[in-house]
Amino acid sequence: MSTLTNTPVSDYSQWQPEEYLREYYGGGEVLPDEHFAMEFLVEALKRLADVPIALEFGCGPTIHHALAMAPVTNEIHLADFLESNRVEVGKWLGSDPAAFNWKHFGKETLELEGNPNPTDEQIAEREALLRARVTKVKFGDAFNTNPLGIDKREYYPLVASHYCAEACTTDKGEWRDCMTNISSLVEPGGTLILSVCGAANAYAVGDRNFPCAGVDEVDVLSSLRDNGFTDIDVRVRQVPSQTEQGFSSVVFASAVKGRR
Ligand SMILES: C[S@@+](CC[C@H](N)C(=O)[O-])C[C@H]1O[C@@H](n2cnc3c(N)ncnc32)[C@H](O)[C@@H]1O
Repeated sequence: MSTLTNTPVSDYSQWQPEEYLREYYGGGEVLPDEHFAMEFLVEALKRLADVPIALEFGCGPTIHHALAMAPVTNEIHLADFLESNRVEVGKWLGSDPAAFNWKHFGKETLELEGNPNPTDEQIAEREALLRARVTKVKFGDAFNTNPLGIDKREYYPLVASHYCAEACTTDKGEWRDCMTNISSLVEPGGTLILSVCGAANAYAVGDRNFPCAGVDEVDVLSSLRDNGFTDIDVRVRQVPSQTEQGFSSVVFASAVKGRR
């Protein structure tokens, strides 16, 4: 685990997917922020069924959150700003032997869903289901008012975005804009599920620091309200063992876009 240093915040041209995967997902370990994120995600998804299509926006080089979405939806689109992340995801989808091993998250997901002893076969089955569900890995920019293009505005009945909007900027006003843009992808009556890092202004990845908007649960709630969401659940969890990485709490939310 790296320690946040006084070095300036890097922009995403400095991002290395392997370093990020090592920092937050390596060693076969599920860190506390991710345990809580998966727990919230599995609970929120239990309330949904037969979602025709879902989006994970800002997936990074990861597929583990989508593992939980696979059983509730027929089709999944993944989107991220960086090509290097999309390439990493593509490796996993293509069963490239050099791809990151997400088995520990398959196990975690199945356990959280109520299976006390997932077998290797059951984990492999979930992975195969996800590979079948993902039909697109796309470019997405949270700073764009149409993050995936105009034709995808209010398109998805389910959008999940984990540790993305707040990681785009150190500026709270810009974070609000990113939240509005991501929210615009949810169709009226659709659901948005968020994981949010409570870092002050940076999170550590190896020797580098990347931006964080310093938002808390009050900001998340007000942004969801401002963007027309109702039926809002917000959860806060303390993660003191991750303070050195730049954050001591994480916020999760699930909300339904109001029908006009
Ligand atoms: C902290 S990582 C989260 C990745 C992944 N969702 C996870 O939970 O591990 C932040 C992500 O935000 C993405 N990002 C940075 N700028 C962005 C932008 N303008 N639009 C969309 N995503 C962006 C990065 O590429 C990176 O994947």
